[in-house]
Amino acid sequence: MASQNLKSPVVAAAAAASASAQTIPSSTISTTTPSSISLISPSDPPNHSFPPPPALSTSSSSTSTSTSTSYSVSAPPSNVNVKVSLTKTYSGTSERELLHMASDISYADLKRLYTLNPLASSTTTAKYPAVRALNPFQKKRILVTGGAGFVGSHLVDRLMLMGHDVLCIDNYFTGHKANVAQWIGHPNFELIRHDVIDPIMLEVDQIYHLACPASPVHYQSNPVKTLKTGFLGTYNMLGLAKRVKARILIASTSEIYGDPLEHPQRESYWGNVNIQGPRACYDESKRVGETLAYSYMMQEQVDVRVARIFNTYGPRMNWNDGRVVSNFILQALKNEDLTVYGPGDSTRSFQYVIDLVDGLIELMNCEEPTASEPVNIGNPEEYTISQFAQITIDLVKAVTGKCDSRIVYLDPLVDDPHRRRPDTTRARELLGWRPKWSVDRGMRETIEYFKWQVEIMSS
Ligand SMILES: NC(=O)c1ccc[n+]([C@@H]2O[C@H](COP(=O)([O-])OP(=O)(O)OC[C@H]3O[C@@H](n4cnc5c(N)ncnc54)[C@H](O)[C@@H]3O)[C@@H](O)[C@H]2O)c1
Repeated sequence: MASQNLKSPVVAAAAAASASAQTIPSSTISTTTPSSISLISPSDPPNHSFPPPPALSTSSSSTSTSTSTSYSVSAPPSNVNVKVSLTKTYSGTSERELLHMASDISYADLKRLYTLNPLASSTTTAKYPAVRALNPFQKKRILVTGGAGFVGSHLVDRLMLMGHDVLCIDNYFTGHKANVAQWIGHPNFELIRHDVIDPIMLEVDQIYHLACPASPVHYQSNPVKTLKTGFLGTYNMLGLAKRVKARILIASTSEIYGDPLEHPQRESYWGNVNIQGPRACYDESKRVGETLAYSYMMQEQVDVRVARIFNTYGPRMNWNDGRVVSNFILQALKNEDLTVYGPGDSTRSFQYVIDLVDGLIELMNCEEPTASEPVNIGNPEEYTISQFAQITIDLVKAVTGKCDSRIVYLDPLVDDPHRRRPDTTRARELLGWRPKWSVDRGMRETIEYFKWQVEIMSS
């Protein structure tokens, strides 16, 4: 089954659009948790426990602080024959640091959620993961649009573990129920099939508005719908925020900078977007989404937050959506050549999804007067696409013990940005946020996840 999937025309089309535990004991958590918070599960075996996460590989990626590998980065590319240095200098992030700043929840707890078998019916899941018990003053009703997607489902996991009531709405265009199956039936969780281009009436305190396809292969498949989602979807969510006086965070994107003439990109940069190109339906819909947000803020006093998200990767990425990370990992796992569009000297920055979720929650809850201004959330480490392809090959080899893939160069894609790297000064100063996940470590986790997924689909 997996091999059929991996060779499907969808994957081929996707490729063509590309380019662009160690368990922390609960006592560790409680030391930094307010006294009114405890860890409970609703269905509640007092002694409940997770099933152990599946053995993903023999790699020790998630525990070691000494074996990680670092790569030379950030130098603007001069040619494609980049030599990637595999110096063993990266000191890694400690398990302690992986207690997340926004929530004091450990990566081990988050990892258990995405390694639950996605094919298992939720009705067969006897126990839910433990969530915190918040008092009524702490507990919020939080809406996540696009919550069944890649980023949305990680955000749902975190907010649920933190003890909030979470409403997830999604039309399942690119998302899947399986991504949130671990919560279906939980008293703190509601899943609603709904398209954000239609209004919806809900009572909520906060809205994370993520609903929108993010990969070129999907958003270009129906550009008019993408524009409707970006405009009408954001308009409807801002209208909801206005009615119920909820704070709303808009998931914007680095794509609003287009093919940037300023490098790295600061939030003050107005961007360089081709309004007629194949990416315009996405880029312009996100730009107008920001304009709508600030118009609602000025005219209707809606409390807005705008996160400009840079390239993000991690477990639960759609493996057929043509994004560079999923493409490269799958090609390397299949021992196929990695396809680079253009000469490979375009640059990108890659952030691990857990860092992004931290940044989104910090931004949503930031009370500083300037918090409504847009904030870049991304990892400023910059790689050429050629470098990143080589890194993927090396890491797949390290995780699986085998990878003979080579890098092949195809024609460049239209309007593919040449350079991408966030200036994250504002996120650091405003939120105290910085990415904690090196590409080495995040990629190992993601490769292990994809390998496990391929094994499940083949079994
Ligand atoms: N992942 C990234 O690298 C990245 C980068 C920049 C911005 N973003 C933004 O973050 C958000 C989430 O991205 P993602 O990577 O999780 O993408 P995704 O495609 O995995 O998730 C998007 C979710 O929104 C849902 N959706 C799409 N259109 C909808 C509609 N009209 N009504 C209701 N639900 C709808 C999809 O079914 C899916 O579950 C998007 O707004 C995206 O633009 C992501």
